[in-house]
Amino acid sequence: MNTASTLRLLRHTSSRLAARPAAGVTNTPLVKTSARLLNTTSSQRITHSPRRKNDSDPYHKVSTDATGTSAGPHEGSASRTDRDIIVEYPDDESELAAHQPPLRGRGGVHFVRTLPTFSLEGRTAVVTGGARGLGLVMGQALVSSGADLAIVDLNKEEGEKQAKELVEMFRRENPDDPEVVPKITAHYCDVSDPESVTECIGEIVDKHGKIDHLVTSAGFTENFAAEIYPYDRMKKLWGVNVDGTYLFATGVARHLMDRNITHGSIVFIGSMSGAIVNVPQPQAPYNAAKAAIRHLAASLAVEWAHAHIRVNCISPGYMLTALTRKILDDKPELNKTWTSLIPVGKMGSPEDLQGAVVYLLSDASRYVTGADLRVDGG
Ligand SMILES: NC(=O)c1ccc[n+]([C@@H]2O[C@H](COP(=O)([O-])OP(=O)(O)OC[C@H]3O[C@@H](n4cnc5c(N)ncnc54)[C@H](O)[C@@H]3O)[C@@H](O)[C@H]2O)c1
Repeated sequence: MNTASTLRLLRHTSSRLAARPAAGVTNTPLVKTSARLLNTTSSQRITHSPRRKNDSDPYHKVSTDATGTSAGPHEGSASRTDRDIIVEYPDDESELAAHQPPLRGRGGVHFVRTLPTFSLEGRTAVVTGGARGLGLVMGQALVSSGADLAIVDLNKEEGEKQAKELVEMFRRENPDDPEVVPKITAHYCDVSDPESVTECIGEIVDKHGKIDHLVTSAGFTENFAAEIYPYDRMKKLWGVNVDGTYLFATGVARHLMDRNITHGSIVFIGSMSGAIVNVPQPQAPYNAAKAAIRHLAASLAVEWAHAHIRVNCISPGYMLTALTRKILDDKPELNKTWTSLIPVGKMGSPEDLQGAVVYLLSDASRYVTGADLRVDGG
């Protein structure tokens, strides 16, 4: 439609609006407002009469007209944050669940026929935060799909223990081919510290010879109402979640660019909190951090497309891990609220991320970059 006909349509619509009373409106409006027409060639005015309140309508009370006048303490309560919920990430990690054994595998790598592009055979993958929780279970998925693995974590001791267990489990489940054993190593790193990241990437390349894939799962959450959130804790939260993701990704990207390969890929672990506001626990800085991670994936995907490095994000919903277990132990009533807000009616298990991470790292998704895959039960 050209400018002249657009203007004609506006003039036509405006004059019809001026002539016609709004449906259901009486002739004696409570308030009368007027506005100048968009049509610059006419000085004609239109009047707009707001809808008269109808107190006999039983639903009036719950309509937007009612806001501020009849809204009681119940209205909106199920969708609000509760400032009394305070969860501090423990300084002593032993407060979180004790040693977690790796998942029981499915026995035998070649028992099930699969699309070959899903295989990560010959690839080396790095998982930050890989000693526990989602990172550990995703790392196991990468090993089951053929990759060698470097577990990166603040807790190197736990990483080493898990590396050993993953190898033992692989041997138990693949007894027919004792020669084929994945190389799994553990490395200390504080992902929020640039020097530690550079050192760690160097150590991995020394041990494995190369890196092909990265999953950034190091991260944590805390709950404080925004107006009392301790600033130093907020900086630490963003440091690990956002800076840590950025530092590790850029370090690995430089390595991939130096190698000049075409299959490099990276997956960031965001959260559904990067796109929605969780209730009732207040966690504005965490939500903002996860939104930053999601958009970082989209931005780096564009920036590094020329180098054939794909960057995608997985945004999990509520998954049952050491941290969420501790939160639920402290506040059992949260379980009911959370599951009532999940369409499938239950929290996820870390295993539910295995297919997503293998897909996004492998060549099966070679035309997918900058995407955010929500794994959140709806
Ligand atoms: N569990 C959930 O329901 C859920 C949901 C959505 C997103 N996430 C995200 O998934 C990621 C993993 O969560 P999780 O539940 O497995 O947590 P977790 O606490 O079980 O595991 C996190 C791991 O990261 C490590 N880590 C923490 N700070 C680190 C640092 N500075 N440097 C290196 N390693 C560090 C920890 O030692 C731990 O091993 C986090 O980014 C989290 O925000 C979790």
